[in-house]
Amino acid sequence: MRLLTRSLLSISALATLAQCAPDVSLDVDVDVSLSTAHLDCCASLVAAGLGDRVVYPNDTNYIPLVDVHWSWVARLEPSCFVLPENAAEVSKVVTTLVGDNRYEKCQFAVRSGGHTLYAGAANIVNGVTVDLSKINAVTYHPENKTVSIYPGARWGKVYSTLDALGVNVAGGRAASVGTAGLMLGGGNSFYSARAGFVCDNVVNYEVVLANGRLIQANNKTNSDLFQALKGGSMNFGIVTRFDLMTLEGADLWGGVVTYPNSTADQQIDAIINFGNNIVNDQYGSAITIFLSASVSNTTTVVNAYDYTKPVVRPAAYNDFLAIPGNTSDSMRITNMTDLTIELEQAPGFRDTWLTGTFKPTKGWMQLALQQQAIMFDLLWEARPHGNFTVQTLFQPIPTIFSKHSVEKGGNVLGLDRFTDNLMLYQLYFAWHGEDQDDLFNGKGHDAFNTVVDYTKKHNLYTEFEYLDYADISQNPLKGYGSANVKKIKTVAKKYDPTGVFQTLVPGGFKISKVA
Ligand SMILES: Cc1cc2nc3c(=O)[nH]c(=O)nc-3n(C[C@H](O)[C@H](O)[C@H](O)COP(=O)(O)OP(=O)(O)OC[C@H]3O[C@@H](n4cnc5c(N)ncnc54)[C@H](O)[C@@H]3O)c2cc1C
Ligand SMILES: *[C@@H]1O[C@H](CO)[C@@H](O)[C@H](O)[C@H]1NC(C)=O
Ligand SMILES: *[C@@H]1O[C@H](CO)[C@@H](O)[C@H](O)[C@H]1NC(C)=O
Ligand SMILES: *[C@@H]1O[C@H](CO)[C@@H](O)[C@H](O)[C@H]1NC(C)=O
Ligand SMILES: *[C@@H]1O[C@H](CO)[C@@H](O)[C@H](O)[C@H]1NC(C)=O
Ligand SMILES: *[C@@H]1O[C@H](CO)[C@@H](O)[C@H](O)[C@H]1NC(C)=O
Ligand SMILES: *[C@@H]1O[C@H](CO)[C@@H](O)[C@H](O)[C@H]1NC(C)=O
Ligand SMILES: *[C@@H]1O[C@H](CO)[C@@H](O)[C@H](O)[C@H]1NC(C)=O
Ligand SMILES: *[C@@H]1O[C@H](CO)[C@@H](O)[C@H](O)[C@H]1NC(C)=O
Repeated sequence: MRLLTRSLLSISALATLAQCAPDVSLDVDVDVSLSTAHLDCCASLVAAGLGDRVVYPNDTNYIPLVDVHWSWVARLEPSCFVLPENAAEVSKVVTTLVGDNRYEKCQFAVRSGGHTLYAGAANIVNGVTVDLSKINAVTYHPENKTVSIYPGARWGKVYSTLDALGVNVAGGRAASVGTAGLMLGGGNSFYSARAGFVCDNVVNYEVVLANGRLIQANNKTNSDLFQALKGGSMNFGIVTRFDLMTLEGADLWGGVVTYPNSTADQQIDAIINFGNNIVNDQYGSAITIFLSASVSNTTTVVNAYDYTKPVVRPAAYNDFLAIPGNTSDSMRITNMTDLTIELEQAPGFRDTWLTGTFKPTKGWMQLALQQQAIMFDLLWEARPHGNFTVQTLFQPIPTIFSKHSVEKGGNVLGLDRFTDNLMLYQLYFAWHGEDQDDLFNGKGHDAFNTVVDYTKKHNLYTEFEYLDYADISQNPLKGYGSANVKKIKTVAKKYDPTGVFQTLVPGGFKISKVA
């Protein structure tokens, strides 16, 4: 079924090979049929000397490149991929696609790890997907304790490089996740209570701008861009290197503990208290996941506890440790490489995440679990085929996270404007079959909106929607607050005056779309 769809799509992709859409807003007076002859964007890349880097749909490497996306929903088929091998080639790709002549402008997408769940953030149809996977080095600099992470690297490679050297860095919690997208949207990590968001640990970015120029952004040079990249995502340029400050010590106490859903009330109390108390022991982090799986027709609590020092059962976890009846426990002293392999999420589904951030109370958190149960039951009744999951995730966002952000120079997430410890809510559903997309998204939005409405009614709501978990239907940049929106708009205009990353690169959350 999928293969059939795929081959049909491939034929149409070939037929329309690189017939990139003209910039309609500029070209209203142009006869498009005359100009299409100029619009072979992939051929322009070949003509620019990048032929070895271009992968057309007739290439055996093309389908594996489509399948890089973690969520099946996101597996779009572009006119071609281009895989630059260094920053100079990224620059050449950009200048070629932007073109010096308005008839030759080509739409494109930029992909690092391809872990955005929804379609079109890091991929495109009728355009070129710039895949950064070949630019994937991870280099530690002992002289200043920084690590250079190139955008094609996944977190697993970062940790295996650093674990061997006995140092660490704040980063993603699953090994296969891309580094660049995560950092550009902020980045929640096991180290947040100690070190702020992942982006707060970046001390320098190397960026290719829309005009092809390669620049550095740090707290001395281009400092406005430096700050805007800390949460501002795909609005300014293509980041070709991230330099981060590392942390001492590689070993942690961490793992996964599972429980029956009958412990739900105790879990909610424990995660609320944990978030409120972590300021007193900033080495701790915890995620609580309620996982309903159709294949077993059960709901399980899956908790990830990670203490970023090699100490067994520290007091920060006492509330969790008092919950009896766990059904599995992998807690151990180990390293990030090992822990982030354990925390991989099953690929191979069509997936959606919806996210909000609220003042934690038992009221909305219990409602979220009730809604999960209702949604699960409705899907059991309605589904034409099985094998799906519905999950609720709770992650504390206490004020200590953004206190560290501010200390390290600040980001644009806007969380520092909240004076309460908050709780991030994530509703996650995963299914098979395009024919079930509307069913799952419909039931998912119903459940999610019920919880959001409750938090609004009880004055617990904030407009922060974590960008890295946000669905295309959400507006995470708006949630950064008007001062940060203004800042991001100013920086985007300054570094990309012609709006290349607003129009020619349609994927991702665009600041120009925020009122
Ligand atoms: C299994 C799983 C686990 C996760 N765990 C965590 C976690 O622990 N903490 C957390 O905070 N988030 C987590 N996430 C969310 C994750 O941060 C986002 O999915 C993020 O987008 C992944 O980065 P990527 O490079 O794979 O993204 P991509 O999908 O490749 O890109 C995301 C966006 O950034 C843009 N972009 C990519 N690279 C560049 C670049 N070099 N320059 C400019 N723009 C670029 C793209 O155009 C796109 O709009 C997880 C996601 C998954 C699926
Ligand atoms: C693949 O497609 C490209 C673009 O149309 C073409 O130039 C190339 O010759 C094709 N290669 C093969 C082996 O068919
Ligand atoms: C750290 O050292 C490396 C290697 O000497 C250098 O390239 C890099 O710019 C330095 N980074 C900072 C932030 O000083
Ligand atoms: C990380 O931990 C795993 C599992 O214990 C171990 O096999 C591996 O050697 C460790 N890696 C490093 C670099 O210490
Ligand atoms: C600028 O960044 C460097 C690290 O790269 C840090 O040592 C310094 O304190 C920062 N200065 C300011 C004003 O934030
Ligand atoms: C799934 O479990 C629920 C109870 O949790 C039960 O009511 C339902 O009958 C089960 N469905 C199947 C098909 O086993
Ligand atoms: C899980 O249960 C076992 C057996 O009762 C117990 O020894 C262990 O401490 C529990 N683990 C946690 C993290 O609570
Ligand atoms: C359910 O789907 C996932 C993702 O494709 C797959 O890994 C798993 O094996 C499937 N389970 C069953 C029982 O079919
Ligand atoms: C899990 O427990 C919560 C809290 O008691 C409850 O609301 C929910 O219905 C339970 N979920 C399932 C699937 O039984």
